[in-house]
Amino acid sequence: MAVPTTMRAIELAGIGGPEALRLTNRLVPAPKSGEVLIRVEATGVNRVDIIQRTGAYTPPYGVTDIPGVEIAGTIAALGPDVADHRVGDRVCALVIGGGYAEYCAVPAPQVLPLPGGYDMVRAAAIPETLFTVWTNMFDHGRFATGETILIHGGASGIGTTAIAMAHEFGARAVFVTAGSAEKCAACDRLGVTRSINYRLEDFVRIVREQTKGRGVDVILDMVAGNYVPRNLSCLAPDGRLVLLGLMSGTREIEINASQIMMNRLSVTGSSLRGQSIAQKTRIAQALENQVWPKLAAGRMAPVIDTVLPLERASDAHRRLEGGHHVGKVVLTLV
Ligand SMILES: NC(=O)c1ccc[n+]([C@@H]2O[C@H](COP(=O)([O-])OP(=O)(O)OC[C@H]3O[C@@H](n4cnc5c(N)ncnc54)[C@H](OP(=O)(O)O)[C@@H]3O)[C@@H](O)[C@H]2O)c1
Repeated sequence: MAVPTTMRAIELAGIGGPEALRLTNRLVPAPKSGEVLIRVEATGVNRVDIIQRTGAYTPPYGVTDIPGVEIAGTIAALGPDVADHRVGDRVCALVIGGGYAEYCAVPAPQVLPLPGGYDMVRAAAIPETLFTVWTNMFDHGRFATGETILIHGGASGIGTTAIAMAHEFGARAVFVTAGSAEKCAACDRLGVTRSINYRLEDFVRIVREQTKGRGVDVILDMVAGNYVPRNLSCLAPDGRLVLLGLMSGTREIEINASQIMMNRLSVTGSSLRGQSIAQKTRIAQALENQVWPKLAAGRMAPVIDTVLPLERASDAHRRLEGGHHVGKVVLTLV
């Protein structure tokens, strides 16, 4: 496969609104040792891209300034010391940046085959949410079959993936919060036990009522702020609160220590992007073994809200920031 020297990419012309995303030409990256070069055909849009664009998040040192953390495409070249992949393989990958471009270099262990029957759009919609939900739900949340779970932001990219994962891994009950009747209805269609419109209802009261006062075993929380003490009030004994986002914008919180002690609660969380390649490799292997067969069998699938061409990256960000989407927004490059 002939690889050109330059490529189309979206760059950030400074910190700002969606208009700061600008189509440009960049040099095609050369894959380093242990990396593959992927000719990108689709790339997922994530909240972290917006956080980066607005200046609230700086990519790790040495990482490209081109946004985009998940891609699907075809392997165009191999760097030195890559054994498990071939030029021409159709793949998807979790990347640390650079997804909004025609070519992207990725550590080989973060590259996964396209799940059976998947096209590039659907494949580009899965790496970021699956890696995130897997590690937070199982590694940190220690979720087990037969347990109950509360997922905040149920209609988000992360939330819709977490709902599917909870169902497929044997949740006894799945509760979600969302900010509108339409989003709650979308979560209901995904089969949740009870969606909670947090603008109209108190999630603590509903969860406690629904669980006969016991609370849930695991909470995935992308909101933080004043949700944290309220989460502690609807966790079951030995429950785990997993923090994975800061949608409230509030980092500092006050909590009741005795509540944690009396109910033996765990408060944990994680951020995926800065984790080592070894940690991401371990998650990738778990996903390929345990989730890829479910995707291929159609037992779970990404919820896709909007698909736009790369040059409309600004509109893709507007869609996500508008807050009316359900599931994922994806950009296409071919
Ligand atoms: N820890 C990690 O490694 C990791 C990895 C990926 C993503 N994340 C985080 O996960 C979250 C979701 O990411 P995404 O890409 O799926 O984004 P997304 O689809 O844009 O979803 C964001 C969701 O947050 C909800 N929300 C916004 N403001 C809120 C508020 N003040 N209170 C309650 N809910 C609010 C919105 O739902 P409503 O309209 O229903 O409120 C929306 O569905 C983000 O915080 C992101 O940073 C973390």
